Amino acid sequence: MSVASTREQWGSKLGFLLAAVGSSIGLGNIWKFPYLAGENGGGAFVLIYLACILVVGLPIMIAEIVIGRHTEKDPVGALRIIGAGSRWEYVGYLGVLSGFFIMTFYSVVGGWTLGYIVKSVSGAFDSIEDVAAAELIFDNFVRNPVEAIVYHFLFMSATMYIVIRGIKNGIERYNKVLLPLLFFILLVLIIKGLSLDGALDGLAFFLKPDFSKIGFKTVIEAMGQCFFSLSLGMGAMITYGSYLSRKEKVLGSSLQIVVFDTLAALLSGLAIFPALFAVGMTPDKGPGLTFNILPVVFSKMSYGTVFATLFFLLLFIAALTSAISLVEVVVAYITDEKGWSRKKAVLICGSAIFILGIPAALSFGVLSEFRPFFGNTYFDFMDKLTTFYMLPVGGLLIALCLGWKYGLEKTMHELDSDTKNAFIEKLWAITIKYVSPLTLAVIILYFGVYRLIAG
Ligand code: PFF
Repeated sequence: MSVASTREQWGSKLGFLLAAVGSSIGLGNIWKFPYLAGENGGGAFVLIYLACILVVGLPIMIAEIVIGRHTEKDPVGALRIIGAGSRWEYVGYLGVLSGFFIMTFYSVVGGWTLGYIVKSVSGAFDSIEDVAAAELIFDNFVRNPVEAIVYHFLFMSATMYIVIRGIKNGIERYNKVLLPLLFFILLVLIIKGLSLDGALDGLAFFLKPDFSKIGFKTVIEAMGQCFFSLSLGMGAMITYGSYLSRKEKVLGSSLQIVVFDTLAALLSGLAIFPALFAVGMTPDKGPGLTFNILPVVFSKMSYGTVFATLFFLLLFIAALTSAISLVEVVVAYITDEKGWSRKKAVLICGSAIFILGIPAALSFGVLSEFRPFFGNTYFDFMDKLTTFYMLPVGGLLIALCLGWKYGLEKTMHELDSDTKNAFIEKLWAITIKYVSPLTLAVIILYFGVYRLIAG
């Protein structure tokens, strides 16, 4: 908490912003969001998602960054301070574990994006005619244990290479180049998609709400997606906030991160749906949307190879800048709490994640029938466990610890430098103390009961 701290800091406000936006924009925005919207009534899902962001996402984003900057610690150390030495530090452990778990399957999908860049460059999608052909390519790819593990390894190595270089020279430096590139590619793809005949139907689907598809499951999916997409509930933003200089503004930065992340999700919908409808396909195919359907869409476009390669490059960049933050949470904990050097922490944690990710890499082939996890494969189990349970529960506990155990008065000065607007501060205080925890508690409890009943 000392002002003259020796903790490494971001080189600039822009550096922090780009890194935090890079963390939040990831596979969640480009891979998950469009297929969730596709399955759940298009615009109706988008509306519920936006409501989750306002009521829970933004307030918890502010809370995490406030906690990080206030304590200048990794999530375990930070929760130990604001939880006043009581058991609240376990919330920090839950966060570190979530980062670890997410990374085991995230890196596998990150590996797929690398594999698909190689495939599109080498023309594998040039002449595929239908979804069955694309599915065959995908199935053969993910079922092949050697390819799945090698690409998972390569993705993990790229992530570790950047995290080893530290905050300023690694994470900040790479995000500064990669994130603008990501938005540029996204814009190129949107322009291409919208220029195709029949694109407007896709636009209408994405923007027009179909409330008949909305049920309780949609609400928990939207809430889980809100946490996953904004990188909340596991201390990633506590960690990034802990490297933030006292000169910078917390409220403004939080708002910017949330706006950019939401924009990226909406823009990827804009890049995908018009193109999809233009070639006469439907968007209700679930997680396979990106890898099974888009290659067909691209193969039907002029210069399809170029656009397919650009798309998978986009996906790779988005995944990499998020993976960095997932690993950084684990590394920050080990360096802060155990005193290891950054290099040792990255090498050992990264290798452990790689090894625990192997069953996720094999979940589509050799281990596809290995389902001891409530009927799920290892991959699906890790995804559901973290998205629907660990992150929302983590978020709830973080809000309770800050709002009730530590008390907002002691951290309000973190916002003071930001705004003379007492109204916004008050609004945030009420939301983080009452509205967000209550909403989350109701959804989590209801979801638990619903799961028990619906199986
Ligand atoms: N926000 C990332 C995405 O949308 O893909 C995933 C993620 C990164 C989740 C970091 C949680 C996290 F701490």
